[in-house]
Amino acid sequence: MALRQIRVYGDDILTKKCREVKEMTPRLQELIDDMLETMYDADGVGLAAPQVGVLRRIVVIDVGEGPIVLVNPRITLQEGEQEGMEGCLSVPGKIGQVTRPGHVIVEGLDRDMNPVTVEGEELLARALCHELDHLEGVVYTSKVEGELYDAGALDEEEEDGESGENEDSAEK
Ligand code: NI
Repeated sequence: MALRQIRVYGDDILTKKCREVKEMTPRLQELIDDMLETMYDADGVGLAAPQVGVLRRIVVIDVGEGPIVLVNPRITLQEGEQEGMEGCLSVPGKIGQVTRPGHVIVEGLDRDMNPVTVEGEELLARALCHELDHLEGVVYTSKVEGELYDAGALDEEEEDGESGENEDSAEK
């Protein structure tokens, strides 16, 4: 496994639509391992393949409940609404408010190309929507309501013992 370089905002690759994975290969397995390692190393809760420069429909997510790997994922149900702050490993140091569905169901394939269904609410629903947007070349900044804030500035305003409250702004 190896860390991959995370592409940052302004890199054209982040605005491109990703291709479906037709066949799992050792090379794509290695990509998935590297994406997980890169996400954990960066303290992110999600990472999409284009963020490491690969235009394939693969995302990894871990909101603290263990790793989720999704190949060719698609949202099959979305309902409700949640408001919250969101960040992205490709837009370091920034957060902004984005309204997302409160509950989503995503169907796709796991890393062995077996069908898998992931259901999420709260942070997981947000992470799923955020990562799937990346596969369409959409970065969350295009959905931010109002300003894009400096994440550090908000952290400083937080009182002691409230760091866990910032979970929803975890970078993806
Ligand atoms: Ni992101």
